[in-house]
Amino acid sequence: MQDELIAEQVNTGLVKQGAWDVEEFARAATIAVERLGAYVDKSQRGENPVVVRRPPRELAERLELERWIREGGMTPETFEKFLAVYLANGTQLHHPGYLAHQTAVPDFPAALAEFVHGAMNNPMDIYEMGAAAVVVEVEVTRWMLTKVGWDPDTGGAILTHGGSLANLTALLAARAAAAPSAWTDGVPGDLAVLAPCSSHYSIARAAAMMGLGERSVIPLDTDELERIIPERIPVAVERARRAGRRPMALVANACATGTGLYDDLRRIGEHCREHGIWLHVDSAHGASALLAMEHRHLLDGIELADSMVWDAHKMLRTPSLAAGVLLRRGEDLDRAFHQEASYLFYGDRSQGIDLITRTVECTKAELGLKIFCNLAWRGEGGLGAYVSGQYATAHRFWELARERPGFECPYEPQTNIVCFRRGCSDDAQIAIREYLMKEGTFHLSSTQIAGSRYLRLTVMAPATDEETLHRLLDAIDRASRASREVGRPGD
Ligand SMILES: Cc1ncc(COP(=O)(O)O)c(C=O)c1O
Repeated sequence: MQDELIAEQVNTGLVKQGAWDVEEFARAATIAVERLGAYVDKSQRGENPVVVRRPPRELAERLELERWIREGGMTPETFEKFLAVYLANGTQLHHPGYLAHQTAVPDFPAALAEFVHGAMNNPMDIYEMGAAAVVVEVEVTRWMLTKVGWDPDTGGAILTHGGSLANLTALLAARAAAAPSAWTDGVPGDLAVLAPCSSHYSIARAAAMMGLGERSVIPLDTDELERIIPERIPVAVERARRAGRRPMALVANACATGTGLYDDLRRIGEHCREHGIWLHVDSAHGASALLAMEHRHLLDGIELADSMVWDAHKMLRTPSLAAGVLLRRGEDLDRAFHQEASYLFYGDRSQGIDLITRTVECTKAELGLKIFCNLAWRGEGGLGAYVSGQYATAHRFWELARERPGFECPYEPQTNIVCFRRGCSDDAQIAIREYLMKEGTFHLSSTQIAGSRYLRLTVMAPATDEETLHRLLDAIDRASRASREVGRPGD
């Protein structure tokens, strides 16, 4: 009977091609959980190389990508083999020696949220496509607004796929406030964005994408560590006005991507208020210090801003991506976009909250769930303790490094980002970084400050401890000596 039914379904084209075999799913998921658990465990103990650098072709062959794409037919058992090679050839963020970029070392509650999203896939920009996901996002962003010091009933917020998109969204709101007809008539040619040279490149990109042109970004005067000099803001405003430009927004860093240093938000905010300029705070990395009692003062004055961004996929330990765009006045966010979509809406008859009017994206992942799960598991206090811990470890590195001969540390760190030099030349910094990556022991990044190249350390992994820091300093000395021996500029 069953066979006849299947035969009939095949004949009529009704066979359920692609429906889940839930037993196979459970087997594959069990394997994945076991493999991932072992991966994180080994990684946290620093037992694997922190980063593997194979030529792309060789790696594609090891993963047998062409064959799998051509033939298909993966099973839980062959997936296990594939996953082992895949995991071994990625960058190990949980590793104590992972000290490079600001990518979150994800916590497992948020990883579970990703898993749920992967199965459920509620593209929750409209309420009917994910009511639970919408209310989770709304409550999470109301919590974020409260942390900033804004009223969640009058403020406005949205989660978006990353800090770059969040900056664009905030600047679109600023543009709508400065030039309400820009959406329909195009952008007036006199708009300007004031920003320090240290602002993230997504700011200049946003200006270019919004049709203002990159040249509309007018640099603010900064000190030797690229922080905005607040008392020089009137000079920049005057300079812009003399050039026939209308400052649409001023962007401050909290903190700057390169140095991890915060701008003085209170004094900057006061200048913006005085000149009637929209203040946007790019706090993609540093906003999480709002949760850490002893670091909250670094964001003093943020409540004076008109908009700010807060990436959970940096210091709130969610996998990429989940970024908050927060505005002091909710109506400013509503004015950023205007769109009709008759296949989604018909007047005001929605039964819930449609977030789609506030985002670049149409389809959106369940971003709030990741933040919610970390909050629900660890509590606000737990996340704050993580931020404090990482900031403290970076500070400890600075204390140790500045006592070592050959190290130059240009400033006391305020966050989990520290810049330093070992030896004099720019090339020496690059040689050290490359050496350590080749060894597989430490993954550092590098940046320029005022035109000179520095090594850059970002303490993200909870596994990085005092012992790691001593090993790192020894490894840097070793790398410096080795580069000199092979004629590279180690000093
Ligand atoms: C200050 C700042 N703003 C924006 C961004 C961009 O964020 P995303 O990579 O999520 O687009 C970064 C990324 O490092 C950042 O540090």
